Amino acid sequence: MAILPIRTYPDPVLRRTCQDAEPGTEQIRRLAQDMLETMYAAPGIGLAAPQVGASIRLVVVDVAGALGSPDPSFLLNPRIVRSSETTAFEEGCLSLPEFSLEVERARVIEVSYQDLEGAERSLVAEDLFAVAIQHEMDHLEGRLLVDYASSVKRDLYRRKARKRKAT
Ligand code: NI
Repeated sequence: MAILPIRTYPDPVLRRTCQDAEPGTEQIRRLAQDMLETMYAAPGIGLAAPQVGASIRLVVVDVAGALGSPDPSFLLNPRIVRSSETTAFEEGCLSLPEFSLEVERARVIEVSYQDLEGAERSLVAEDLFAVAIQHEMDHLEGRLLVDYASSVKRDLYRRKARKRKAT
């Protein structure tokens, strides 16, 4: 396994729409393991493939890992098939250093996906787990947390990110 560099805003790879992941390959297994290790090292509770430069519909989420009991979920080609009323969470993103924002998302979701070997699966996620999955799925469409911010806050962050990149 390897810890991969995390791409940060405004890296254009974060804006691409991802392609379907092909399960059951050595390449996807390695990418998933590397993403998991990268996420734990960051540390974070979720990571999407574009954040390590791969435009592939693969996300890794583990909301328990930070509490010392790792329980990772690998979701290939995830789709939300049911969602509940919304709730608001303060979110951050490993690709957006020094940025956080309260966002409204469904509190409960049902997700259909494939596992790493291609088996069709589904899960029901609530609260932080549901929010993390929705956040990571946004990455697969090239959508970022900063897109939910007011234009003032977004412009401010864009300027800050440019300055950070220049130094
Ligand atoms: Ni993110």
